[in-house]
Amino acid sequence: MIVLYALMFLGGYISAAGLGLTCPEWPLCPDGIMPGEDYLIEWIHRLVAATTGALVIATMVASFINKRADAKIKLTSSLATVFVITQITLGALVIDLKLHAVLVAIHLGIGILLFSMVLLTTLFAFRISKAPIEAKV
Ligand code: HEM
Repeated sequence: MIVLYALMFLGGYISAAGLGLTCPEWPLCPDGIMPGEDYLIEWIHRLVAATTGALVIATMVASFINKRADAKIKLTSSLATVFVITQITLGALVIDLKLHAVLVAIHLGIGILLFSMVLLTTLFAFRISKAPIEAKV
């Protein structure tokens, strides 16, 4: 949740500062894996997006492996995975279509849906961890 929140904050900054097309290529910026100063903020947005994607998918896998996880956490973590994959694909389209206003608005909208699912997953996870463990006799 913290990583995702930071990512959304950074996205808002990129948008408001008009930096959305400073790195015009996808997935890498023109100077390759290590970015120059010119592309740094966009590059960080993509790196944090990739990290968020890995964390969200790992959370879903954990919810399916954990025997104490109920259907609700499996559902919210699966929806979060669908949204994170859609969001990363959409990020590429936002660049390809030169920040088309509708796509940027959808990028924000899916970001909010993703955040909601990650928040619910976190709340459900705390509930599981607080549930009393049944004694095995
Ligand atoms: C989990 C993945 C992602 C999340 C949650 C996310 C979230 C956001 C948010 C909240 C904004 C601000 C939108 C606004 O203020 O209207 C934004 C902007 C932006 N994002 Fe992402 N993003 C993600 C992945 C990506 C990826 C992978 C790319 C590109 C490869 C990308 C490219 C952009 C660009 C270019 C902007 C600025 C748009 C503009 O200038 O108006 N995003 N992002």
